[in-house]
Amino acid sequence: MALAGCDSSGSSGPEKGDDNGAGTDLPPPIYSESAVPEYTLPSLLTTADGDSVTTPSDWWNQRRPQLLRRFRAHVYGHLPPTPPTVRIEHHSSDPSALDSTALRRHVTLHFTDRPEGPALDLLVFVPTEAEGPVPIFAGLNARGNHTVLPSDDWPVRTIIDRGYGLVVAHYGDLFPDRPEGFNESVYQIHAAEHDTTGRTGSALSAWAWGFHRMVDYAAQTDAIDADRVIAVGHSRLGKAALWAGATDRRLAAVVDNASGCGGSALFRRRYGERIVHIDTRFPHWFRDRFSQYRENESALPVDQHQLLALMAPRPVLVSAKTQDRWADPKGMFVSIKHASPAWTVLGHQGLATRTLPMPDAPVLSRAGYHLRSGEHTLNLVDWGVFLDHADRHVRSSDPS
Ligand code: GCU
Repeated sequence: MALAGCDSSGSSGPEKGDDNGAGTDLPPPIYSESAVPEYTLPSLLTTADGDSVTTPSDWWNQRRPQLLRRFRAHVYGHLPPTPPTVRIEHHSSDPSALDSTALRRHVTLHFTDRPEGPALDLLVFVPTEAEGPVPIFAGLNARGNHTVLPSDDWPVRTIIDRGYGLVVAHYGDLFPDRPEGFNESVYQIHAAEHDTTGRTGSALSAWAWGFHRMVDYAAQTDAIDADRVIAVGHSRLGKAALWAGATDRRLAAVVDNASGCGGSALFRRRYGERIVHIDTRFPHWFRDRFSQYRENESALPVDQHQLLALMAPRPVLVSAKTQDRWADPKGMFVSIKHASPAWTVLGHQGLATRTLPMPDAPVLSRAGYHLRSGEHTLNLVDWGVFLDHADRHVRSSDPS
């Protein structure tokens, strides 16, 4: 069966001739629905003891902690410890940025007393017109804070005009994106007491930890509502945003843009990027044990619908792109569909459709899905949908 609404031309995958596996022994990706194997997803609402999860208390006290433990043990590893204090160093503040619509700040978060210790540089925009603390999108970027303002990925003016703030940081401050990056990562804050090899942590956990520190910053900043911080990330940083939301309930919502394999796409579909591809090329993104599931997805005790469910009942939006076969847009849909019962158990509406929506017809339920026409990017069209979803579920605190 062809993937309705999803194109076969173009993705971020190996056929593009970049380094996504070309010239290696990696298996070719599956790009045909007829080649997707039969699979059985691990149950969402059955505990490890075989009991059904039917009440919020079953979820909060039993099932959710079990699932979190499994994702730590088999996929992402442990996060760096929470620092006892986060010291904010203010560098500059411009109250008339973006034609005086925004206050722009540049600050550094310090996690230790050591001047050379790991730190996180934040670029912050807050609407000047706001009455009271604003909801804010928190994101990591892959190219540096100085690239944010002129970029398509971060339409700051639109975000500000819609009444939201934006805080961004460069992911390399947390864990440089290479296998040996652990030695320069935020794990070094506690290197003396913890695993010094990095094998039980991961870059994705360090990046997720960075989102948590942005909530810490929000909590110390009057102009921002720390109860309405929305984690947003594209691609590898969408994976990090999801893991951040799973591990810190202070994040009010998560927006996943094209996270694909290791993010919201189901491993067991094996469509597009698979564990063998991602873990061979980016072993540092995951913990050591994840490698044992290369070409053995069915042995993994979790799948990614369970990761999405860890967000429940908070709003989550999964945004996929029609031409992004490498990230498996349909797998991202099936995943949020199978996560949806977690919202229901907690008394909220989950995903408001059972069938893959048409392109460019976003489903903006509390657990939402959006399939945008086009390639593996983050752009203004996506942000329009993110803001609509946030207006409905974060700004207005719609209880549904
Ligand atoms: C590669 C990788 C993906 C990842 C993407 C990105 O394509 O295989 O898993 O999402 O890079 O972060 O841009």
